[in-house]
Amino acid sequence: MSGMQCGEIAIATEGDIVMARKIMREVSSGMGFGLTDVTRIITAVSELTRNIYKYAGVGSIRWQEYCSGEKRGLRIEALDRGPGIASIDQAMKEGYSTSGGLGMGLPGVRRLMDEMEVASSPSEGTAVTIIKWLRHLS
Ligand SMILES: Nc1ncnc2c1ncn2[C@@H]1O[C@H](COP(=O)(O)OP(=O)(O)O)[C@@H](O)[C@H]1O
Ligand SMILES: [Mg+2]
Repeated sequence: MSGMQCGEIAIATEGDIVMARKIMREVSSGMGFGLTDVTRIITAVSELTRNIYKYAGVGSIRWQEYCSGEKRGLRIEALDRGPGIASIDQAMKEGYSTSGGLGMGLPGVRRLMDEMEVASSPSEGTAVTIIKWLRHLS
């Protein structure tokens, strides 16, 4: 792989959720993540795309190779213009769900990834940004 890669995946159907998993599996293994991290990344992407589909109907996944200082990694944004999250603090707690779900999605994503940021408002929708850093082999 040469240069810094990036891409965008539209989410509107269940098939797009499957496609997003497939693409992010290829992207992350192509970047050199090990199987455990690849699995963490696609599990996180799965949860975020399911939330887009369930709560906003449509949205997108944007990904890019990302550098900060010495660190190189994969940055993924899950974006939608849906109803927004009423309380981000609540939504980040295990067991909180407005849909009768398990409420383990967002707290799970936080555990699986190295960085996570949630921005949301009723007028602008929701943006969840996650990062996984590549580990140096020493
Ligand atoms: N993209 C989104 N748009 C609006 N609300 C969301 C979105 N993602 C999550 N939420 C809210 O945050 C809650 C917690 O999400 P999550 O942890 O994935 O649990 P679950 O999906 O099982 O309810 C959801 O019940 C919903 O109220
Ligand atoms: Mg969920």
